[in-house]
Amino acid sequence: MSVNYWLLIQRFKFLTIFVHLADKSQNPRTDFAPWKKWQTFILKYKIPIFLIMGTIKLINGFPHLPYSRISYTQKEMLKKSSDYLNWMDQRRTVRDISNRPVAKAVIDHLLLTASTAPSGAHKQPWTFCAVSNPELKSRIRQAAEEEEYKSYHGRMSKEWLNDLKSIGTDWHKPFLEQAPWIIVVFKKVYDFTGDKKSNHYYVNESVGIACGFLLTAIHQAGLVALTHTPSPMNFLSQVLDRPENERPFLVIPVGYPEAAAYVPDLKRKPLEEVAVYYE
Ligand SMILES: Cc1cc2nc3c(=O)[nH]c(=O)nc-3n(C[C@H](O)[C@H](O)[C@H](O)COP(=O)(O)O)c2cc1C
Repeated sequence: MSVNYWLLIQRFKFLTIFVHLADKSQNPRTDFAPWKKWQTFILKYKIPIFLIMGTIKLINGFPHLPYSRISYTQKEMLKKSSDYLNWMDQRRTVRDISNRPVAKAVIDHLLLTASTAPSGAHKQPWTFCAVSNPELKSRIRQAAEEEEYKSYHGRMSKEWLNDLKSIGTDWHKPFLEQAPWIIVVFKKVYDFTGDKKSNHYYVNESVGIACGFLLTAIHQAGLVALTHTPSPMNFLSQVLDRPENERPFLVIPVGYPEAAAYVPDLKRKPLEEVAVYYE
């Protein structure tokens, strides 16, 4: 929940801040809950408190919070966007991932970042399975390699195999055991509200965007990832014992790059080839 504290302080709505602190301290990673009783009370009566204080607005009967962002000067904005482009341009898919451990708390942050992605009707139709268990990683590698062997020896077209030559991939997937974490992303095609099936919307788009956020967060943490799509990947549902409403979407090994890691010498398309302006 993003809140303009300054605006709220200006309006002398100090109580609002307590509500947000209560909200924040619900997060198990924030060790900030010595005031459990108050927290429970505040969270229970959050909406009426906000209404009384006049800091929320009811739209179609539903609470809406004030929202604002820091805005930049034109010069700052140019610099920020250009710096970010340069930073993101350094992201690469890395297949040489070392077995150096990565703390679970970091993975928590990466997954929570992915989960901030927009989604159709805010259904957040994803489950991120973070696998560090060596036995499970071995099973995933074995099953993926079986499928990939078949793909590289008959299922893939000549054109496809040719397109992959410069990238240097084959059916061997050592990174699936080597990486400290394999994030297996599942899309939830529907959900349950009690016993009743409930719909999800734009599931592929939503999960794709969440994976983009995840890759960006991994890069920001100084780690590397590989977007892997063993095909077909139904075996992941069995290995990870996922429910019927979840379908495997992507496999993303995450870790540090090997000391001697190499990536294909790829060029990215220039702006004229990827964008069309209508001014
Ligand atoms: C949907 C998708 C599926 C991919 N599947 C694989 C894969 O199965 N194996 C692999 O080695 N790389 C895979 N990649 C990685 C691409 O080869 C890589 O993103 C591309 O070559 C560009 O390189 P870059 O990510 O370093 O910019 C996949 C990427 C995407 C977006």
